[in-house]
Amino acid sequence: MLRFNENGKFGMLLFGDLHEKRDYKTNPKFSDMQKLMNAALDEFRPDICVLLGDNFGTGLCAEDPEAFRQGLADLCAPAVSRGIPVYAIMGNHEHDAGVDEAVIAAYESLPLVNMRSDGVEGKADYYEVLYSRDGSEPEAVLWFLDSNNLHEDQSVSKYDFVHTDQIEWFENTYNSLNEKAGKVLPSYIFQHTPVPEEYRLLRKAKIWEYPVSVKGHNTLSGIRYVGAKGTEGYVGEGPCSPDVNNGQFESWKKTGGVKAAFFGHDHLNDFSGYVDGIFLAQHKTAGFRAYTDGCRSCVRYVELSEDSPGTFRQVLKHFKEFGLKSESLGPVFRTINDRQSMALHFCARVAGAAAVIAAAAVIIHHIFAGG
Ligand SMILES: [Fe+2]
Ligand SMILES: [Fe+2]
Repeated sequence: MLRFNENGKFGMLLFGDLHEKRDYKTNPKFSDMQKLMNAALDEFRPDICVLLGDNFGTGLCAEDPEAFRQGLADLCAPAVSRGIPVYAIMGNHEHDAGVDEAVIAAYESLPLVNMRSDGVEGKADYYEVLYSRDGSEPEAVLWFLDSNNLHEDQSVSKYDFVHTDQIEWFENTYNSLNEKAGKVLPSYIFQHTPVPEEYRLLRKAKIWEYPVSVKGHNTLSGIRYVGAKGTEGYVGEGPCSPDVNNGQFESWKKTGGVKAAFFGHDHLNDFSGYVDGIFLAQHKTAGFRAYTDGCRSCVRYVELSEDSPGTFRQVLKHFKEFGLKSESLGPVFRTINDRQSMALHFCARVAGAAAVIAAAAVIIHHIFAGG
C-alpha cells in the first residue's frame, strides 16, 4: 500500500528512456546513468521511482530470461538497495522482442520492482491508490499505462497509442475507485508515448527562430516549432506522438480528476506545461544510450502533498547540475557542451548556412572570373 510519508508528502523520482543493453556491466554509459540515479536518489529521497519505458532491451529477455532479470535487478539496484520501490512502464521498445508476458514476469519477479497487467489482457496497464499517512483514506491514484509499440498500419500512424479498450478500462476503473472513495481522486498518469496534445505546448516558429526551432514529427515534419508561451523546459525535437488522435486526452478531461501526465519516448525534450488544465511533462532520457542529450540527461522529481493531493511541485535536474563527471562522453561533450542538443542544432545550421554562402561565393567568383 502506498501512503503519504510522515511529513505528509509523497515524492516520485522519474527516469526517462534508459535504454540499457546487455553489455551494461562493462559499458561506462551504464555507470554514468547509475551516477545520475544515485545522486538524484540521495538528493530527493523519493518514496517511489518511476521508469518511463524503453528501460532495458527486451531481446535479451527472449534469448536468456534469467540474464534479462539480472539486468533489470542491476538497473534498479540504486533504488532497491535504498528500500525504494520502482514502478516501471512499457515503452515501445519493451514490445520489440514480442515476449511481453515474459517481460512483465521478469519485472514482477524482482523484490520492490513493479510492472503488471491489471486491465486489458496482455497490456501492462496498472494502478496504485495512494493513501493518507495513516492508511485510512484513499487520496490519489497513480496510473501506469502501456502505450504499445509502432502502429500496425504505418499509413495510419508511425507510433501506436493507448487503445480504445484500454481507455475504457481506465475510465471504468477510475469511476469505480471514485465511487468507492465518495470523491473524485486526483490522478497522475505515467505513460511512454506522449499524447498528440503535447503539440499544444509548442507553436510554429517564426522564420528568424528557425536556428533554435525543431522539426515536427512524421506527418508534421513540414512545420518547425518552438515552445509556446507558458511552456517551460527544453524543446529538443518534435514530439514523437501518434499521427492520429484516439481520444485519450479527451477521456482524461471527461474524468475530471487527471492532474498531470508524465511521458518518456522523446530523448531530447524536457518541456512541460498545461493543456486544458492538465499538466503534460516530457522527460528526456536519464541515460546515455541511444540518442541522448549528453550532460543534459536529467531526472524529474514530483512531490504531492497530503493537504492538497491535487497539486504538486516538481523539480527538473540535469546530470551536470548534480556536479557529476561523465566517463562515457568524449572530451568535447564532457567539458564544453553544456547544452548539447541546442548547440548541435545551432552549429549544424550555422555550418549549413556557411556552406551555402561559400558555395554561392565560389559560383559568383567563377562566373565573374570566367567572364
Ligand atoms: Fe526511447
Ligand atoms: Fe520510445
